[in-house]
Amino acid sequence: MPQISDTSRNDTQAAPDLFTPLRLGAIELPNRVVMAPMTRSRAGEGNCPTALTAEYYAQRASAGLIITEATQVCDTAQGYPSTPGIHTDAQTLAWRVVADAVHDAGGRIVTQLWHVGRISHQRFQPNGAVPVAPSAIAAKGQLYTGAGMEPFPVPRALETAEIPGLVRHFADAAKRAVYDAGLDGVEIHAANGYLIDQFLRDRTNTRTDQYGGTVENRCRFLLEILEATAHAVGAGRIGVRLSPTGVFNDMGDSDPLPHFLAVTKALNPFNLAYLHVIEGQPGHHMAPPDGAPHVASALRAAFKGPFILNGGYSRGDAAAALAKGEADAVSFGEPFIANPDLPLRFRADAPLAEPDRTTYYGGDAKGYTDYPALESVAA
Ligand code: PHB
Repeated sequence: MPQISDTSRNDTQAAPDLFTPLRLGAIELPNRVVMAPMTRSRAGEGNCPTALTAEYYAQRASAGLIITEATQVCDTAQGYPSTPGIHTDAQTLAWRVVADAVHDAGGRIVTQLWHVGRISHQRFQPNGAVPVAPSAIAAKGQLYTGAGMEPFPVPRALETAEIPGLVRHFADAAKRAVYDAGLDGVEIHAANGYLIDQFLRDRTNTRTDQYGGTVENRCRFLLEILEATAHAVGAGRIGVRLSPTGVFNDMGDSDPLPHFLAVTKALNPFNLAYLHVIEGQPGHHMAPPDGAPHVASALRAAFKGPFILNGGYSRGDAAAALAKGEADAVSFGEPFIANPDLPLRFRADAPLAEPDRTTYYGGDAKGYTDYPALESVAA
């Protein structure tokens, strides 16, 4: 059964704007202003979301959809201080409080599932083990471990036999998210140089087994995760995020356009809720490097379901992208930090508050739940 009839490709319908409702698989959005996933490093004891996390997301419930910060699927998945997980009972119960708070405030929320792969450090790993990755290639640069900046370690290449266990962790996390925590779905984080992206791109995947080499082999880990998570919770509750041209976390691919076109086409049979692509606007930190191809429009044309774009869009850029059919929705990151009621401000053409960058990661309510809503502006 086709799940999507209103992805704005029907020429007889008026072009959508930011306030046209949209169906993403099993999830109905009242508007197309999506909150992008953002690491805020404020999880509590046991990497559980806290009451403050629930308040933060509930304040942002007017988003068409909230995509949470990336959330660990197992105990080897972490690479930053105080990022939440969804693999223990305590974490799952804490996410239930977040989901209930957002639903009580009228919102919709999916959690982004990740494993960071090589973007980690022994300090974040059980028993101080070396982080795992497709291949034993360290990322250039340093990471913040909580004890200052340290170089990225050379990761341990996963044994072929370990991969099904990781796939199961994603499926178990999806089950916990939807059935136990009551979240509306999950986004599989296959972007920005974390584990799944490390399998997808040839700068980080030099494997010679069935998970490396050909495009088909490099997609295998992602596709196995999608099969398992779709079996667990239904594809209409699963989105995927890709960053085909991103260089963040020392990433790259020798031929991103054909590669990610093949990845996108391989997603079609799943009937996913959506595909979420990061490709920064000119000048944005997630823009393709100078001279590198832009691929988002080709992926949009190849993908048969709803398409969300991300990467430094202003209200005007986003409205133009929707009007031109370049996307069905646009996700906004930093603007949602300081503007909890961002859709209302867009509708009212109200000025946007500027976020305080010094409070992006870690800390408490300051820079997290203390940005006021514009209560005086009528919807
Ligand atoms: C970050 O914490 O800097 C971060 C996390 C997840 C991303 C990108 C950046 O996808």
